[in-house]
Amino acid sequence: KTNQQWGGRFNEPTDAFVARFTASVEFDQRMYLQDIRGSIAHAKMLTQAGVLTEQERDDIIRGLGEIRVEIERGEFEWSIALEDVHMNIEAALTAKIGITGKKLHTGRSRNDQVATDIRLYLRDEIDLILPEITRLQQGLLTLAEGEADTIMPGFTHLQTAQPVTFGHHLLAWFEMLSRDYSRFVDCRERVNIMPLGAAALAGTTYPIQRDLTCELLGFSAPAENSLDAVSDRDFAIEFCAASSVLLMHMTRMSEELVLWTSAQFNFINLPDRFCTGSSIMPQKKNPDVPELVRGKSGRVYGHLMSLLTLMKSQPLAYNKDNQEDKEPLFDTIDTVKGCLRAFADMVPALESKKESMREAALRGFSTATDLADYLVRKGMPFRDAHEVVGKSVAYGIAQNKDLGEMSLDELVQFSDTIEQDVFDVLSLEGSVAARDHIGGTAPDQVRAAVKRGQAKLDQR
Ligand code: ARG
Repeated sequence: KTNQQWGGRFNEPTDAFVARFTASVEFDQRMYLQDIRGSIAHAKMLTQAGVLTEQERDDIIRGLGEIRVEIERGEFEWSIALEDVHMNIEAALTAKIGITGKKLHTGRSRNDQVATDIRLYLRDEIDLILPEITRLQQGLLTLAEGEADTIMPGFTHLQTAQPVTFGHHLLAWFEMLSRDYSRFVDCRERVNIMPLGAAALAGTTYPIQRDLTCELLGFSAPAENSLDAVSDRDFAIEFCAASSVLLMHMTRMSEELVLWTSAQFNFINLPDRFCTGSSIMPQKKNPDVPELVRGKSGRVYGHLMSLLTLMKSQPLAYNKDNQEDKEPLFDTIDTVKGCLRAFADMVPALESKKESMREAALRGFSTATDLADYLVRKGMPFRDAHEVVGKSVAYGIAQNKDLGEMSLDELVQFSDTIEQDVFDVLSLEGSVAARDHIGGTAPDQVRAAVKRGQAKLDQR
């Protein structure tokens, strides 16, 4: 027996392995809801267009509703022979409501159907991802507000550079995520275009009303060109690109969390519920969540590369290659959601170890630039000031003393313009408070930035 969906022109049944090899139902069944929604909208439109009767439309809607319930109860029997989610549902509909089921596919092809389903699916998922980014950002804002006065060393080259506030550091993460958020919003706009009506590739001869289907499905516009509508997956590539940048940002956060929880840094504590132990070393508490997020970036970058390669050089219009778009896209969605959820849960629970951050900031001559700036204010050219401070740092290294721990007599050896007021700038508090402009690390600026950030989140 040949395949019932297209058997007409075939002389023998599909090879059993080929049937399994070409089937996608095992992974595309997760779009069943979008497939049903798309079919209901299509049936309503066909009725308006006079292609289906109202009775036929109602039978289709009822049948699809029952199928949906069966799928959700786990009672639906998916068949590899029926290849994909679309033909499985259509065949079940026909089995249920008879000949009317066979009319549903009028003026439609699986090519515009699958493109529509993926777009609906991805739009739904972006709508879940956006609030998760916001939840993570909210956690960062709240934490940053509480840490506006906490001083830690800021780093360049992972060497102590200048003191910063922990709140300021957290707000740097907040900014990265703000751009990620807007990348997903932007991506959603191009996802939300409707392929239905393109049919196989050239459009259809029926008097379809694409604006109606479009409105029923909440798309912003019908795709302009039928060939383009069924063939391109650039929207999925864009989603994976936005996801890759997000994951890249999350690996940077992860890396810092891993470093900071180490005994060598000892800047923060991650609550036990976000860590795991070792089966051999009883003392261990490992920062698994950030490590795993750091590692998961690999698969997301890989999926981006898969989709770019999948699309590369494909002639217009639809090619079966495109069936390979789903697994990378779905796994990217799952990974992004998992990583965001883990971080959004974990970040509000971070505890800073203020004393130890402060001690670290005191160790690495982090106020050396402040001393140079002080000398400049006393009239010394910056290059000379740099040299003077460099010598005082060398002295400090030899004596094992930070700049703030030296006496006035010791400091004066390097420049006689140094006076008692130097200690205002050599203190960590003085150093951060002096960077008092928009984008600077001063505690008051951090508090102001938290307010601006909150206003931004409240507008979403
Ligand atoms: N399962 C297919 C996919 O995922 C649906 C479209 C197939 N169309 C075709 N003419 N073979 O892309």
